[in-house]
Amino acid sequence: MEVLISEIAEQVGRSVTLKGWVHNKRQSSKKLLFLQLRDGSGTIQGVVALNEIGEAGFDAAAAATLECSCEVDGLVRADNRAPSGFELTVTGFRLVGPSPDDYPLQPRGKGEEAHGADFLLNHRHLWLRTPRQRAIMRLRDRTVFHLRGFFDSRGFTLIDSPILTANACEGTSTLFEVDYFGRPAYLSQSGQLYVEPACQALRKVYCFGPSFRAEKSFTRKHLTEFWMLEPEVAFQTQDGNLELQEAMLKYVVEKVLDNDAGLIADIHDKRGLDFAADEESAEEVLARLERARDEAFVRLTYDEALEVLKKNGEPLEWGDDFGAPHESALVRDFDVPVFVERWPAQAKAFYMEPDPADERYVLCDDLIATAGYGELIGGSIRIHDIELLKRRIDEHKLDLADFQWYLDVRRYGSVPHGGFGLGLERLVQWLGGVRHIREVIPFPRTIKRLDP
Ligand code: 4AD
Ligand code: MG
Repeated sequence: MEVLISEIAEQVGRSVTLKGWVHNKRQSSKKLLFLQLRDGSGTIQGVVALNEIGEAGFDAAAAATLECSCEVDGLVRADNRAPSGFELTVTGFRLVGPSPDDYPLQPRGKGEEAHGADFLLNHRHLWLRTPRQRAIMRLRDRTVFHLRGFFDSRGFTLIDSPILTANACEGTSTLFEVDYFGRPAYLSQSGQLYVEPACQALRKVYCFGPSFRAEKSFTRKHLTEFWMLEPEVAFQTQDGNLELQEAMLKYVVEKVLDNDAGLIADIHDKRGLDFAADEESAEEVLARLERARDEAFVRLTYDEALEVLKKNGEPLEWGDDFGAPHESALVRDFDVPVFVERWPAQAKAFYMEPDPADERYVLCDDLIATAGYGELIGGSIRIHDIELLKRRIDEHKLDLADFQWYLDVRRYGSVPHGGFGLGLERLVQWLGGVRHIREVIPFPRTIKRLDP
């Protein structure tokens, strides 16, 4: 019977057929060799003994090369010494697709230099097959699943926002322009302008999709194409917006701790050929996540944050945005993520509602992650007064003509509303303890990288 390795526990004592790839091979004698088999659902060791499989089968298995694909018949045995708890006594081996000896990602032996990041990224299409990368992709998938579960449980409707847009949402300096039948269009920086009208139709909505920024920054937190989840809620308040962000993250953290902690262990497993320059161990990541689950997040105003920065040796002018050193200096004092709310209007986008307590500030927040992963979330209450919004569009040197439909949101039954944008890759980095953002998206796009 054909089975997946993930289902092998139910097959102990039975003969099965697996289809997959040879991840590694070790021959211990002329009569005995071991295959590490991988089928996408798991890995298992196949024990190939001449006296069990016969000469022709043994020769075929002995000729197997790294990453060739194959069909393997065998008897499933429980084995406490095996990492998965099971082993396969191989009784048949058939090659499906050969893999020449020049497979680029050869495992590195003792004393051999590890593959460099650039080399691995150039072979991203093959790098994805390795244990750490598979675990990261699974964690990304589970994270999206839990996020969707959270918003579904709270009665939100998913609204897909367009990728091709005529408007700038987050400033004109990071727009990717494309020729749209002779007129300029831009790849979406954010779906916010579209979920704002949608929340007047469906009250609680979110979009989730790729976002594009022509970011000149070459850091471990920036991509030019990343995925953003953006909830938008009619009649939202500043406190309600923060509460939603914190509840969402606590929900995802709890689900990951309950269901996916094994993936975090796999990500940080030092065996295998992976490039790994993480600063944290799996244990440190789990302890950090437990704190985020159990303790209230820190809430600072922008002005309070400036005080912390001064004390921690990274002073900032009032009105300036944080850079990476400021984010690190700010969270040094805290064990859980830190909200920085009520920023000076001049540091933020055109659409943010002034703070009624002091109009030099706007009702907004950035959520800064612990352990150096930077800004996870940017959110705000949106201006709902049409005249003020027109003035702000003007002040930000945006063309009012492009925003007529957006102004309709304020013309017809305007209400206070607000939401936020969560960067999926930043979240997966923080959940998994993955130092560099390029590992948490299947095919990363950065200034220098457009392929594979
Ligand atoms: O703070 P940002 O720019 O906010 C917005 O785009 C709002 N329109 C969202 C909203 O209110 N609906 O981006 C939100 C988040 C950041 O906190 C960060 O997590 C992520 O998106 N992000 C990036 N992630 C990877 N690479 C980049 N270049 C990113 N730029 C933003
Ligand atoms: Mg931001």
